[in-house]
Amino acid sequence: MRRFVVIGQKARSSDEFLLDDLPGTSGRLDVLVRCIRAAMLFSHGLRRDVVLYLVLGGGPGAPRALRVSAETARFLRPDERSLAILVKKVLASSADANASGFVEVKPGVALASGGLSDVFADLGPVPKYVLEENAPDIRAPGAKLRSDAAFFLGDHLGFQDEVRAQISAAGANAVSVGPLSLHTEDVITLVSSELDRLEAQTH
Ligand SMILES: C[S@@+](CC[C@H](N)C(=O)[O-])C[C@H]1O[C@@H](n2cnc3c(N)ncnc32)[C@H](O)[C@@H]1O
Repeated sequence: MRRFVVIGQKARSSDEFLLDDLPGTSGRLDVLVRCIRAAMLFSHGLRRDVVLYLVLGGGPGAPRALRVSAETARFLRPDERSLAILVKKVLASSADANASGFVEVKPGVALASGGLSDVFADLGPVPKYVLEENAPDIRAPGAKLRSDAAFFLGDHLGFQDEVRAQISAAGANAVSVGPLSLHTEDVITLVSSELDRLEAQTH
């Protein structure tokens, strides 16, 4: 199972945003919505072995975390608006309000009211990597890439210092996918491609 965790520093944790102006009204939830497509979908197909966590740090009710499990999710479409509609419907739920951990709201889509701490608890002791510019190359032998790992990424603002420290404390190895600072969803695509190549070598 591949796992991606995207930290949305100011991404809205409620459904109070406009689909017609997602970037301007949602704390750049658009960045995270594009990550759903990048992590889960390939041309004419769904990657069934992916779980994606979106940590939502903005607005009243934050933090919250949204988990999408491709194995059981339905109706994941590649266009940003359809995915934003799905996220908006899920965020309208209060199923997580008095619960601990993730609560399924729609098939394959769950919410948790504890943010990153709920994500760590849900992940358990899997190998962890943090994607970061200027880190050692993901292709370096020392990176010891594993496809059952969890990969942490920042949004357009990168990581807050305290969040970066929590990820380090969880034992994550820092890796880079190249010399430029890329958009988060593009980094997910590149990591997915590295894992595809790794799996092709071992089968
Ligand atoms: C647009 S970048 C963040 C830029 C932000 N201004 C900063 O200074 O951190 C979004 C995220 O993608 C990941 N990322 C971007 N370029 C990368 C690279 N070359 N290697 C690994 N991760 C990268 C990082 O997790 C980063 O937080």
